[in-house]
Amino acid sequence: MKQDPRFPNLFILNHPLIQHKLSHMRDRGTSTRTFRELLKEITLLMGYEITRDLPLTTHRIDTPLMSIDAPVIAGKKLAIVPILRAGIGMSDGLLELVPSARVGHIGVFRDPATHQPVEYLVRLPDTVDRTFILCDPMVATGNSAVYAVDVLKKRGVPDDQIIFLALVAAPEGVEVFRKSHPDVKLYVASLDSHLNDHAYIIPGLGDAGDRIFGTK
Ligand code: URA
Repeated sequence: MKQDPRFPNLFILNHPLIQHKLSHMRDRGTSTRTFRELLKEITLLMGYEITRDLPLTTHRIDTPLMSIDAPVIAGKKLAIVPILRAGIGMSDGLLELVPSARVGHIGVFRDPATHQPVEYLVRLPDTVDRTFILCDPMVATGNSAVYAVDVLKKRGVPDDQIIFLALVAAPEGVEVFRKSHPDVKLYVASLDSHLNDHAYIIPGLGDAGDRIFGTK
C-alpha cells in the first residue's frame, strides 16, 4: 500500500497482481469479457485489503471437540453501494467476498456540458450502525464520488463508516474528494497523471462503463 503526501485520505493498493491486471485492462485490445473478468479479480484483491478492519461478531459453533464463540464477519452490517453504472463491475466481486452484505445503488450521470453529477436513482438499506463501501472504477473530476458520499452523510452515516473503492483516479478528482471529505478513505489501484479536456483520465482506460458492458 502506497500513500501520496498530497492526499492523506488516499491509499494506493499497488500489489503486483493488481498492477499486472490493471495494465491488461488499460490495453485497448482487451475484450469486454476479459476486461470484466479482470475488474472482478482486481476487486477481489482490493476487497481483501479494504475489509481488514470490518467488524466481527461471534457465532456459536461446535467443533468436533468443543463449543466456541467463533469470530465471523458481521456481514449484515455491511452495505456495498455501486455508483451506476460502472460501479456494478466492482460490486459483484465485493459481494462474492461478503455474500450477506446489503446492496444499495446510487445512480448519477455526468452532465456532458458541466461535468456535474445528476442523480436519477438512490436506493439504500437502513444506515444505522452500518459500514458502507461505495464503488466506482473511475474517480475523474471527483464530482460523482463527492456526491455519493454526500448522499450517505445526509442519511447520517459517519465519515469513518464510509469507504470509497475505485480503480483509477486522477489527481484533480482526488483533490476535490479530499477537500469535501477529508476523513473518508479512498482506495485506488492507481493514481494516474491528469484529466484531459473532456474530463477523461490520462492514461486511464477509456470509458469504464462502455468497456465493462461493451457499449459505445
Ligand atoms: N469515466 C470513465 O469511465 N473514464 C474516465 O477516464 C473518466 C470518467
